[in-house]
Amino acid sequence: MTRLSIRAQVVLLVGLLLLAAMAVYLTLATRIVTRDKEATVYDVNALVAGTVADQVETTVDGFADKLRYFGQEYASTPGDAERRAKSLFSADDEVLSLEVNTITEGGIERSFLYFDAERLSSLNIEKEDILLARKQTPVPFAVVRRTGVVLQNASLPPDLALLRLSAVTADGKAVITAELRPERLLKTVTTGGVTRVFLVDSLGRVLAHRDASKVIAHEDLSGLTPVQSALSGKAARGAEQYETDGEQRLASYARVGSGLAAVVAEVPVAEVFGATRELSSRSLLFAAGIVALALVLAIILSRALTAPLKRLSDTMVVISKGEYGTTVPIEGAPEIRSVGTALNEMSRELIRRSDDLQRAHNNLVQSEKLSAIGELAASVAHEVKNPMVGILGFAQLGKEADSMSEAKEYFGLIESDTLRANKILQTLLEFARPPEMDMEPLEVNEVVQGALQLCQHQLQMQGVKVATSLGDGLGGILGNNNQLRQVLLNLMMNAGQAMAESATKRVTVSTVVDGDFAKVLVADTGPGIPPEVMQNLFKPFFTTKRRGLGTGLGLSVSRSIIEAHKGTLTAESAPGGATFIVRLPVRKG
Ligand SMILES: Nc1ncnc2c1ncn2[C@@H]1O[C@H](COP(=O)(O)OP(=O)(O)O)[C@@H](O)[C@H]1O
Ligand SMILES: [Mg+2]
Repeated sequence: MTRLSIRAQVVLLVGLLLLAAMAVYLTLATRIVTRDKEATVYDVNALVAGTVADQVETTVDGFADKLRYFGQEYASTPGDAERRAKSLFSADDEVLSLEVNTITEGGIERSFLYFDAERLSSLNIEKEDILLARKQTPVPFAVVRRTGVVLQNASLPPDLALLRLSAVTADGKAVITAELRPERLLKTVTTGGVTRVFLVDSLGRVLAHRDASKVIAHEDLSGLTPVQSALSGKAARGAEQYETDGEQRLASYARVGSGLAAVVAEVPVAEVFGATRELSSRSLLFAAGIVALALVLAIILSRALTAPLKRLSDTMVVISKGEYGTTVPIEGAPEIRSVGTALNEMSRELIRRSDDLQRAHNNLVQSEKLSAIGELAASVAHEVKNPMVGILGFAQLGKEADSMSEAKEYFGLIESDTLRANKILQTLLEFARPPEMDMEPLEVNEVVQGALQLCQHQLQMQGVKVATSLGDGLGGILGNNNQLRQVLLNLMMNAGQAMAESATKRVTVSTVVDGDFAKVLVADTGPGIPPEVMQNLFKPFFTTKRRGLGTGLGLSVSRSIIEAHKGTLTAESAPGGATFIVRLPVRKG
């Protein structure tokens, strides 16, 4: 987590929080709505199933009463049956045919048959169709006699929807059967809305269904759980969720009478929760929108938050590259303001420290230089001593001169010796000047010669031969003459000191071109540099020389000078001696 940027953390946190909140809210809302809806659906289904069952029962009871009444009358005055049937059932628009079956010892026999000819012809139905339907779906007399009333689907494929009601008379001597148009019953099942209602007979076969083809086909629905529950006789009414055709349905059922038929009112779960699902999917879309918006806001916010931090870190980078004193504007949140103030303070402090450090370093360079001068002192004194001796001699001779012209000659010699001594001292004094880091265009060979001038005599006194091999076309460099001279002087004096015990004593100073660099090589014929010395060569205060002879600062100061010139100082060692290599970048243009 802490590896991520603050911005990413803010965005991530906001995003996660929002997602979690949305997820919890959506889940809860959906669950509540679903539960509420489910309860409502069950209520509505139960209401519908109950109402339809009551309606069917009332209708069937009324009609069965009528049939029984007709049966009774028929038994007393059979001759009047035709007329009575007409008057009793013609008002009823559903009856198509009527039949009285008398029960005798020998069995059941049809004793009266009536067709409502007018209605049949208006509906374009033949009497034969009715008779055929009767043959295909016979009246279950045994059941009628046992239960009193039987409602049957007597439809005749392909297109004649027919309902049949049979009732046994009170004395049990006759069964009256009537074929009916199923319109009234169908009306009860074709309720609007998502609730689907269907009616089955005592065996679970379709009596009424919004899908007429199921009615005509006498479809058997006894396999459906709500139908089984309704007809099993345990409870007259109930509700359950079941699956059929791979579809979940919420169903309520109600038995009609004592098992005459059953009504099922059901709704596919998918339809019930369609709206809920749509609500949740829309809410999800909405939530996604909100989350996206929040993320954008979080990104903007976090950017605003981290912009000052970015400025702080940019400034730190600038400072770390050496631009001490660079400051940031103090702005933003209090925490960031205080960091900014601290940074600015630090930046200013860095200038002070860096100045102090520079001063200390300059002192170091100077003290190393003075120590070199101290070492040179003997040789310089020796060098100055020669012209001095000359001057003294010429002055004595001049005093005793006979003529002015002879004295003038001595004056001339005194002058040239004085100039010589002066030049030696001038060179030394110039070298001894405190250093400044001003860079100027220089010729490498001239710098080498300047350094040689300073220490040549000293080396000669040590018995060291100095050889030079100065290359052509080195190109100028940009540098500080005084400091570069100090470096070369140290290298040459180190070489001289290293060769104190050597048989051959020679320093070779050569200059060569190396690409964009000018190289100065100082090679000696000394013992070389042992590995343990090599490791510490450039460390400050590392020396192998006796106290008073070496400061151990020469090479470390030299390296810092060369690095300030954007060059390198390296050492190589072989059994034949050591070689120090100064590389300085050639001035462009
Ligand atoms: N040409 C050389 N040959 C062998 N050893 C050298 C040579 N130049 C320098 N050294 C080693 O490096 C050490 C550090 O040199 P330097 O930094 O100039 O300090 P100092 O000369 O005061 O000892 C010397 O003490 C010596 O041991
Ligand atoms: Mg030294």
